[in-house]
Amino acid sequence: MNEVIWKLQREAQRIASKHPLPEFYSRFKAPLAAAKKIFYKHPGAVRLRGMAAPDYKEALGHGIFHCTRVSIDCAALILIETDGDRMKPVALQRLMVIGIYSGILHDICRDEQNHGECGAEKAKTILPAFSLSKNEIACISNAIRNHEAFAPSAVAGSQWAQLVSDCLYDADKFRWGADIFMHMIWHMMDYQALSPQELIEKFPWGMSGTVRIIETFRTPTSRQFGPEIIENGMEIGKEIYRYLLQHYRES
Ligand SMILES: [Fe+2]
Ligand SMILES: [Fe+2]
Repeated sequence: MNEVIWKLQREAQRIASKHPLPEFYSRFKAPLAAAKKIFYKHPGAVRLRGMAAPDYKEALGHGIFHCTRVSIDCAALILIETDGDRMKPVALQRLMVIGIYSGILHDICRDEQNHGECGAEKAKTILPAFSLSKNEIACISNAIRNHEAFAPSAVAGSQWAQLVSDCLYDADKFRWGADIFMHMIWHMMDYQALSPQELIEKFPWGMSGTVRIIETFRTPTSRQFGPEIIENGMEIGKEIYRYLLQHYRES
């Protein structure tokens, strides 16, 4: 990452730090902590992360950092959405593990044209090395296939598979909030070797796509708390855009 991009990222992180955390991250601290614990301690999750890491490049901003955030939010959403379902703790933990596996693998084919479909097929070749049933592997594969924005989504074979699929989608789209401007955009800028002026040109188009994602959330929790996550990102984005115009607009 060159000096200019590095400085822009630091500035973006400074701007973002002035904005309050969206309510999802304060209200659901306990489910998020439970999800984090599984993500970092569950032997299968640790092993899968190690296996997947070499396939991930930070290049397009969809590397291990992104997958970590998606995995944790996905498992937290599963826990929140099943609150009141009286699931046995073991079954619930299993579902959260499946959510985390989906999150770890969901962008494994990020560089491919149809990366959801490709990732779904690749997951089927990786997951038999883990102690998962055929249905569980199908559930993860289906969730990965369904995670792309503004694309049709197949109905899952069971209520639980549908929940994992919907939670993975929403957790991935939460990244269209502050994460874009704190992390992803700078890696993309670096990868595409964009100048600040070229970034300025692309900015309004990118922002208009971001706002459309609000209408696509799939779980009740995300429909309630997701818009704030995206709007928070938009506010940060607007400030960064102003900063770019101030410092880099060609005269
Ligand atoms: Fe993706
Ligand atoms: Fe993703």
